[in-house]
Amino acid sequence: MSTLAINLQDIHYRHKDTPANYAGLSIEQWKVGITERVFLYGNSGSGKTTLLNLLCGILIPTSGSVNLFDNNISTLSNSQRDLFRAKNIGVVSQKFNLIPYLSVLKNIQLAAYFAKNSRPDVNNDVKTLLNVLQLPNNIIHRQVNQLSVGQQQRVAIARALINHPRLLLVDEPTSALDASAKNAFMDLLMQICDNTKMTLIFVSHDTALSHHFDSSLDITTLSRTLSKTEENIA
Ligand SMILES: Nc1ncnc2c1ncn2[C@@H]1O[C@H](COP(=O)(O)OP(=O)(O)O)[C@@H](O)[C@H]1O
Ligand SMILES: [Mg+2]
Repeated sequence: MSTLAINLQDIHYRHKDTPANYAGLSIEQWKVGITERVFLYGNSGSGKTTLLNLLCGILIPTSGSVNLFDNNISTLSNSQRDLFRAKNIGVVSQKFNLIPYLSVLKNIQLAAYFAKNSRPDVNNDVKTLLNVLQLPNNIIHRQVNQLSVGQQQRVAIARALINHPRLLLVDEPTSALDASAKNAFMDLLMQICDNTKMTLIFVSHDTALSHHFDSSLDITTLSRTLSKTEENIA
């Protein structure tokens, strides 16, 4: 068994209606070891969210392979890939993607349901997670659209952690937080990673956060961006 959480080979991807100034992603190779914590940065529009979507199989590369923990997810069927994601990857997206009219508990239970995670103690796990994330127990039945942005973010993290993922992908999580909330959030996230041995890919344009990580990577270095001329020749 390999010690790699992520192994990308010869990835090419372009959105269908890509803006003229964006050439898409082109990654020859990227390897991330199990339990590694990577800080991925780059300007707005440089492809960070696109890369996370390729990693979790929401987007499929035009060519190349995405290997996660020795599974080539590019060859899975859509439903197999959805299940693989639900069981192995926690995703905290930029906009949280919570279902606004459902309660905190229902939002998190839904993630367990999609992973076919039928452990009888799921509800206890929810309570434990809320405690770890310093959310009051009494919000468990509250609709998520009645919570503050900081609280919604913690619910999104609880949802991402409920199935004990091996890989956590976090997209610009601190952009809506003030300085002290940001520090508290980073400490908490690192503590969770220490306890769970998760692999972490953390996306942000705020390079002041990079000291929390094993390594930092500029997406423009990772992705050999094709120039317009190269593209025309190809
Ligand atoms: N669904 C989409 N369809 C077409 N273009 C997209 C889509 N999503 C993102 N893009 C474009 O792809 C580029 C990279 O976007 P994105 O990955 O969101 O960058 P970042 O997360 O670094 O800000 C941008 O130019 C953006 O406008
Ligand atoms: Mg983004």
